[in-house]
Amino acid sequence: MALAHCGARALPLQLSSLARSSKCSAARRLLSACCQPLSSEWPSLVPGRSNVALLSSIGGSTRGFAHGFGSTHPSLQKERGLGFGLRASTTEEVLTEVAEEAAAEVSKPNGESYKGREKIKDIRGEDEGLSKVGQQLVIRGWVRTVRAQKAFAFMQVNDGSNLSGLQVVIHPEAAGYDKIQDGTVATGAAVAVEGELVESLGGKQKVELKATKLTVVGESDGSTYPLQKKNHTLEYLRTIAHLRPRTNTIGAVSRVRSALAFATHQFFQSKGFTWVATPIITAADCEGAGEQFLVTTLVPQNGNAAGVPTTKEGKVDFSQDFFGKPAYLTVSGQLNAEVFATALSDVYTFGPTFRAENSNTSRHLAEFWMLEPELAFADLKDDMACAEAYLQHVVRYVLEHCREDLAFFVERQKKGLPKGEKNVVERLTDVANARFAHVTYTEAVDILLKAKKSFEFPVKWGADLQSEHERYLTEVVFKGQPVIVTDYPKEIKAFYMRENDDGKTVAAMDVLVPGVGELIGGSQREERLEVLEKKLEDFKLEKEAFWWYLDLRKYGSVPHAGFGLGFERLVQYVTGVENIRDVIAFPRAPGLVDF
Ligand code: 4AD
Ligand code: MG
Repeated sequence: MALAHCGARALPLQLSSLARSSKCSAARRLLSACCQPLSSEWPSLVPGRSNVALLSSIGGSTRGFAHGFGSTHPSLQKERGLGFGLRASTTEEVLTEVAEEAAAEVSKPNGESYKGREKIKDIRGEDEGLSKVGQQLVIRGWVRTVRAQKAFAFMQVNDGSNLSGLQVVIHPEAAGYDKIQDGTVATGAAVAVEGELVESLGGKQKVELKATKLTVVGESDGSTYPLQKKNHTLEYLRTIAHLRPRTNTIGAVSRVRSALAFATHQFFQSKGFTWVATPIITAADCEGAGEQFLVTTLVPQNGNAAGVPTTKEGKVDFSQDFFGKPAYLTVSGQLNAEVFATALSDVYTFGPTFRAENSNTSRHLAEFWMLEPELAFADLKDDMACAEAYLQHVVRYVLEHCREDLAFFVERQKKGLPKGEKNVVERLTDVANARFAHVTYTEAVDILLKAKKSFEFPVKWGADLQSEHERYLTEVVFKGQPVIVTDYPKEIKAFYMRENDDGKTVAAMDVLVPGVGELIGGSQREERLEVLEKKLEDFKLEKEAFWWYLDLRKYGSVPHAGFGLGFERLVQYVTGVENIRDVIAFPRAPGLVDF
């Protein structure tokens, strides 16, 4: 029985999800065939094959699977195997059938499989909606503005699928017109509008919806609605983070962010990387900076400090805590990603990370998303090439797919952009086409020491580069080009970075971009056991805590490298939005945890 379940679990995920979807009958049949509890006579049904061998054939390949279940054993096939009314007789044939059914499912005409509601973005399409003129349509969204004229009214309705929404013209003969007259349809109200798409006489848009029926789905008191028409500051919008996604800026940021996330998965999946979900709760401190949030159930929720158990020495007794020892929110998924890279070769982890650093800056959050690829059989050069190709891919993707939103950011930037400086789209176009500049840390320090600029933080070999130095390098010295700085002094970088032959520096790399500074931090990892053990000692880190990490160097150690990209910093870079708190849905920073 256990064997049967293992077999089912070993099936590809797509198969089980296909089987759950109502239409794919071949997948369902295959799954049900595999999930049938096997009777106690199972071993005797497979003479001469051990359970282990069978199990590995099930998990190992569909060919082996077909062999194990189907073709070797006609009696099994007949009694309970794949013979459950399947048209196909071998697993391979069944899987082909599944694939064909799945393809047919996807290509079914509208309405037969899930398509979702038509969004304003789809109506506007590539030609601003001109090809749909004359069609009867329904839109649902929120009223941005409503202007009643003498003989009719205009409404701007936005459903969040694009920036500009759709203009609605409504005349007195349309059902629901009275809702405009009596003020029920006010800014912020949710509405459904039915009507005909017509060419617009106004210059701002090519088409508009001539309403025949207006329904108020959710009223809004226009007099107290916190988002009035005038431009609100981003600072004010942070105080109403529950409503700010309805603004142009946060709406556009959210769409670009989503596109960047999609392009991220697209890039790595297309390059053969496996996505690994690394844990959020961890006992390790990857960066060794002690900037972790403690995860504990020892502090009673009633806030009674006397309830916290302590040891004889007066320390918090973590042995009584939930995990039996201190646990933290992760600062990076890298160490866990390394585990998978040394098994699956190329992997990436992409999820939230947490840092309890008390930095009240426009580039720091307490909770931020990090993308962390990890490449096996790779050195620093491969790592840098991967980072560059990835950035170029996601930049090209948004340039192609987020045109309206990017045009909005260009417009938004105009006021504050110093003369001669490139706007976001020009900058991104450069990045998509140009190679990144490369300098070593030592060269960068030389450049900074010679700079005719006085920095707040002194520049000196051995000290970490500050944001002002990073931005000077990328914005002034390299004129807006992304710059990769390599080979930092080992003392200022994390323990896991591979030591260079000079004994002073490590194979580290930071990617710096204009407006943001450090966007990516990465390195080749120390794969030599003795060197790594020595590094742990030097960094005063407990070797025992890293036993599993050290094991990776004992068993099949390979050169490997990876990097971490701050996803919000990427969104800042791509949109030109100055403060990191405006590129994440609900920012977490010192003193900021509302919503
Ligand atoms: O340079 P960091 O600390 O590198 C690591 O955590 C490595 N373990 C990554 C790896 O090699 N897998 O962080 C990586 C990036 C930074 O370059 C920065 O973009 C971002 O994460 N970052 C932050 N973003 C927002 N708020 C913060 N507090 C951040 N700290 C780092
Ligand atoms: Mg860093």
